[in-house]
Amino acid sequence: MSIVWSDDLTGIDWNELSTLYRIAPLGNKAPADLALVFGNSMFRAFAYDAGRLVGAGRVLADGRDCAYLCDVAVHPDCQGQGLGRQIIERLLARCGSHRKIILYAVPGKEAFYERLGFRRMTTAMAIFDDQTSAYERGYLTAS
Ligand SMILES: CC(C)(COP(=O)(O)OP(=O)(O)OC[C@H]1O[C@@H](n2cnc3c(N)ncnc32)[C@H](O)[C@@H]1OP(=O)(O)O)[C@@H](O)C(=O)NCCC(=O)NCCS
Repeated sequence: MSIVWSDDLTGIDWNELSTLYRIAPLGNKAPADLALVFGNSMFRAFAYDAGRLVGAGRVLADGRDCAYLCDVAVHPDCQGQGLGRQIIERLLARCGSHRKIILYAVPGKEAFYERLGFRRMTTAMAIFDDQTSAYERGYLTAS
């Protein structure tokens, strides 16, 4: 792979990004929603291999205190070759001025983030739009 990096939203093919998330897999994300949430994110990373979008991630941040890392995915053809690590490292470098960088992992992917320096929080909590589904998918536990 010869990766070309971009954080520019100009020219992003939101359908291609939606397909990347679907096949990674990281769920179904509508192209218009991706345009909205990436447009509202302070930091972004897009990885291209020979013009093909093979990796992406983004960070919602306030510029000083809190940064939230999300929507990290690598094309299945390219997984296990260090690209996910590079996406995180690039985004973390952009978050340098923030006091805390927070994420929640897809269940089973925690070790990927632990290798990159993240540690478990003891008091993290969330409200999901579909709490029942969040319980079923392993994101919430009964307190
Ligand atoms: C999770 C994902 C982003 C990792 O990307 P990747 O390019 O395959 O990972 P890398 O090759 O950069 O791996 C970096 C390190 O994490 C480790 N790692 C990768 N996936 C892992 C996993 N599922 N569990 C534990 N460790 C993992 C690698 O062994 C490697 O370790 P090393 O640096 O000590 O050798 C990718 O598999 C993916 O897109 N998965 C589907 C979408 C998803 O689940 N995204 C994460 C949402 S929380």
